[in-house]
Amino acid sequence: MRRVAIIGVGQTKFGNLGEITTRELFLEASLNALKDAGLTTDDIDAIYFGNLDSSRFEHQCHTAAINASVLTNRSIPATRIENACASGGTALIQGYMSIAAGMFDTVLVVGAEKMTNVTTPEAIDVLATCADDITEVPHGITFPGLYALMARAHMAQFGTTEEQLALVAVKNHKNALDNPYAQFHKEITLEKALSSIMVADPLKLYDCSPISDGGAAVILMALDKTEQLDNVTPVEIVGVGQASDTIDLANRMSLTSIYATKLAAKRAYQMANIAANKIDIAEVHDCFTIAEIINTEDLGFFEPGKGAKAVEEGLTQRDGDIPINTSGGLKAKGHPIGATGVAQIIEITHQIRGTAGKRQVNGVNYGLAQNMGGSGATATVTILKGV
Ligand code: COA
Repeated sequence: MRRVAIIGVGQTKFGNLGEITTRELFLEASLNALKDAGLTTDDIDAIYFGNLDSSRFEHQCHTAAINASVLTNRSIPATRIENACASGGTALIQGYMSIAAGMFDTVLVVGAEKMTNVTTPEAIDVLATCADDITEVPHGITFPGLYALMARAHMAQFGTTEEQLALVAVKNHKNALDNPYAQFHKEITLEKALSSIMVADPLKLYDCSPISDGGAAVILMALDKTEQLDNVTPVEIVGVGQASDTIDLANRMSLTSIYATKLAAKRAYQMANIAANKIDIAEVHDCFTIAEIINTEDLGFFEPGKGAKAVEEGLTQRDGDIPINTSGGLKAKGHPIGATGVAQIIEITHQIRGTAGKRQVNGVNYGLAQNMGGSGATATVTILKGV
């Protein structure tokens, strides 16, 4: 297999962006990534596009071809990837494989979602199509409820508290203050998080990621081709892993651990030939605060049941042993579904290059991004390293 590197990154602001369309989000993020790499649209061989559901958010399908034609008139192959909230992470792996296999040299991976031109109940209904429409949704449950079940199970099994969940939100809102692209630039206190409105007991408003618009793009290139480039700091993709599980929670082996994440991580660590303790920084899928805690356990950063205590002890803060979600995470940076997995890669790339500005963590060698679909039926793990 050929070695593959990230050579350019770019994104739009995340948040409620008004009238903007998915194709405009795609274009802005892509042009920013091309500029960062010092390339033009003529250099791109193929496009992989992560997107959950433009068909319902915007009444528009066939979006990969639309986006390709917005970017270039060269008729390059363009493919949309839908894997629920893991669409972006999956698109990244597809782009990686196409270069590793020798099919293409330079690939554009983009994720974008325009969610705010429908009402919150409509958006929640679209998102609920990522849960099981036979065993779950007809009973009235949506994602806050599914993650609330996991939170209650974690509390019962390990003694995790509502305060510890809220501390994830406090940390991620603080991190987002230094991310100009984040949806929220709003520091919150533990008291504010704990007194926010109940969404699905025990998860309150500040335990939830928001509904967001946004786009994110990265440019991948065969590592041996990057020598021709000026002023580019390649970051190598040294491990990828993906796994799936039953879409419904009821058929899972555990409510306090996500098997697909564990398996995807195992595969990515094996490929990178490292153990979890080599990772210096991670972006993990904190769609709800409990998800960040469970993910840090499943990725091997903490023992099962110790993730909440680690948050309380500050181990996941920017200056902690293993900084988690320095971008602000889905919680405060925003969660435009298709863009999320790609934006995680952007943050880790910046941290490895040393271009994360005020969010910079010193001495980052290995970084990891974990993206998850639904309540964990899909997981992708990507490990990056400086060249
Ligand atoms: N965190 C913090 N603040 C939030 C927020 C969130 N998740 N969602 C909304 N807000 C803020 C808004 O900025 C607004 O603040 P303001 O009054 O100061 O302007 C206020 O709360 C009300 O916003 P609104 O958009 O009316 O909220 P809502 O009630 O329509 O939506 C949720 C709130 C929690 C229901 C919605 O964000 C949600 O469904 N989140 C989960 C999304 C999801 O399931 N994603 C998939 C994960 S698998």
